[in-house]
Amino acid sequence: MIKKIEQINQSATAEINSVKTLDELEAFRIKYLARNGLVGDLFDALKTLDKSDRPLMGKYLNDLRNNAQSLFDKKKEEIESNTTIRQETDDLTLPGRRRWIGSRHPLTQTLDEIKRIFYKMGFEVADGPEIEDDYHNFEALNFPPDHPARDMQDTFFITDKILLRTHTSPVQIRVMEKQKPPVRVIIPGRVYRNEAISARSYCLFHQVEGLYVDEGVTFSELKGTLVTFAKQFYGSSLKFRFRPSYFPFTEPSAEMDITCFLCNGKGCRVCKQTGWLEILGCGMVDPNVYKYVGYDEEKISGYAFGMGIERIAMLMYGIDDIRILYQNDIRFLKQF
Ligand code: DAH
Repeated sequence: MIKKIEQINQSATAEINSVKTLDELEAFRIKYLARNGLVGDLFDALKTLDKSDRPLMGKYLNDLRNNAQSLFDKKKEEIESNTTIRQETDDLTLPGRRRWIGSRHPLTQTLDEIKRIFYKMGFEVADGPEIEDDYHNFEALNFPPDHPARDMQDTFFITDKILLRTHTSPVQIRVMEKQKPPVRVIIPGRVYRNEAISARSYCLFHQVEGLYVDEGVTFSELKGTLVTFAKQFYGSSLKFRFRPSYFPFTEPSAEMDITCFLCNGKGCRVCKQTGWLEILGCGMVDPNVYKYVGYDEEKISGYAFGMGIERIAMLMYGIDDIRILYQNDIRFLKQF
């Protein structure tokens, strides 16, 4: 029996060295330490020995079991803390792994900045439906039926009278229908045009509309507000100009240009060598519009303006294809 004990002790001590995983360790435990394992069997055999031999053999057997148990315990601790493997594989000089953080879409960033500036000037935010009726999108904005001005905006019609709004201006009407003057709102939103898709135009885009109506509002307030906005948004050193224009719902109407912020007015590819960039349309609300919303056109005056967001974002961030704004390509988005 002593020989057997020695053999088992030697093989357990040798085998534990090749144990690398918890599964292998479990196999070791079953082989040696389980109730029916090699050591257990010997304890059974102890009963068959001469009474006088039992105490000594019992002591050897206990030693054997304790030794196997401590080999097992040590290995278990080693595998679980994985110290040997860590020492071999951890390279503390490697740079840390970057955790990707989402960012706001460039259009959202542009919109947020525009909103922030107008908030500070006392404008509230309003919104309205993207599926609109002919009345709000055209008629109440003083586009008479069959008026050629309707062709300025290629429209997606759903039925004869229902359409996807072509601009955010119909929300002016909706706000004035609900609210008496004074009204001072900006209206950010998505608009749709049935245009050929290219790098420069897409079937949908975003606008921010502005409307201020009260007693005694003047064109110089319109200019003051828009110049203040433009200087905060584009930089205080810009120059600006207002050119006469035409929109059915404003009279007089104008378009606002600023000096090209890419070439500082010297002339470049982006401003088509003119030194100027057109940034918005504006004007004094046409008195005809007040008739549609039940305002007293004798007492009330106001101004409105509208600007496209995509163009601004594209100029700001140097994006040369509008379509990329809608493709959700992570390689593009993560640059912002
Ligand atoms: N709605 C016009 C467009 O989409 C933009 C515009 C021009 C809005 C003049 C206005 C404005 O409120 O006064 O082309």
